Amino acid sequence: MAAQPLLNTYGRLPVCFERGDGLWLYDTEGQAYLDSFMGIAVTGLGHCHPAVTSAIMQQAGKLTHCSNLFHSSLQQQLAHRVCQLTGMDGAFFANSGAEANEAAIKLARHFGHKKGIHHPTIIVLENAFHGRTLATLTATGSRRVQAGFEPLVSGFVRAPFNDLNSIRAIASANPNIVAILAEPILGEGGIHLADQAYLQGLRELCDEHDWLLMLDEIQTANGRTGTYLACEQYGVTPDVLTLAKGFGNGYPIGACLARGRAAQVLGPGSHGSTFGGNPLGCAAALAVLDTLEQQQLPQRAAVLGERMLAKLRDHLEGAEYIRGIRGRGLMIGIEMQAPCPELVLLARMQGLLLNITMDRVIRLLPPLTMTDQEADSLTDQVIRLIKLYAADERDRPRR
Ligand SMILES: Cc1ncc(COP(=O)(O)O)c(C=O)c1O
Repeated sequence: MAAQPLLNTYGRLPVCFERGDGLWLYDTEGQAYLDSFMGIAVTGLGHCHPAVTSAIMQQAGKLTHCSNLFHSSLQQQLAHRVCQLTGMDGAFFANSGAEANEAAIKLARHFGHKKGIHHPTIIVLENAFHGRTLATLTATGSRRVQAGFEPLVSGFVRAPFNDLNSIRAIASANPNIVAILAEPILGEGGIHLADQAYLQGLRELCDEHDWLLMLDEIQTANGRTGTYLACEQYGVTPDVLTLAKGFGNGYPIGACLARGRAAQVLGPGSHGSTFGGNPLGCAAALAVLDTLEQQQLPQRAAVLGERMLAKLRDHLEGAEYIRGIRGRGLMIGIEMQAPCPELVLLARMQGLLLNITMDRVIRLLPPLTMTDQEADSLTDQVIRLIKLYAADERDRPRR
């Protein structure tokens, strides 16, 4: 493919898509590909879901933008729906995950300043991913994301994932802590689930120290793990919650939601976004919520996820090239023993789009709308491919 005048920020595969439908993407040559990760957990209802397409088209003929200096009935409807669903009291709408997290970080800092803490500090976790803006890449627990962009933002301290003692140690050493920002399941970090006691312990420590518990559910929400939010399964309610990705099924919209005293922190003029919560995004997100509810898709994700995990474990667990298979709902990770970048190319040659995170974790994030047969056929293809790859690797002469 010829060089294009794009800044070189992505290592792109040599394929160009022009159409999508459900589980399938079609390239400019008309070749069909089975998509196992839906733009990294974005099109959770499948590509071009008719309810979302129709909502966007209808809204485009009515009103596409009006300033946040005015009221918007669609924004109010969406805020009402999503607060009811999540137990939150107020919403700020943004255009992406990083922006939703930026709002959360600003909210936590303002919360601290209001308490007289002049260098408010947020606890963040190893292997977390929160975005690519300066504050969110600082919050992200990956040197690969941060390197070359120093100086990083101050006001963050890092702890290992699933380790409550390290949080207790920070609590006793640092009087400036105002919040903890965490993902209930590490997505980019390799599909690692928070332990039940850990997430519950974070909630308790936040209550004990008057900190805000801020959960980044940008990848885990919107029904993907079997409930609208992953934290519901832990019985934990955060003070601040961030959403994006599947929230608009591909239309860019994110949200920072807050509850109780956290919902009272920001005032007029303290934060804003020109495009945040625009009528098109709100119409798309409302159509997503309607579809999730009408078709009981979170419940479906739980059933399909169990089905896929069982099949994957049946066929792959115990093989010498597999380190682990884990997940919740339709957020599944297959960890290989060794880095496997070639697997992405091999899959694409066979008409399957695969995503690998942390160099060796095959991440499956298929749509919640799959039929049982589609889920089986996708799982069979992934299993076949991994076996083929492992056999090739075994036969490859060592240097
Ligand atoms: C958990 C999590 N938080 C934040 C982000 C950043 O979202 P965006 O790319 O929309 O800025 C991502 C993206 O992968 C994510 O997985």
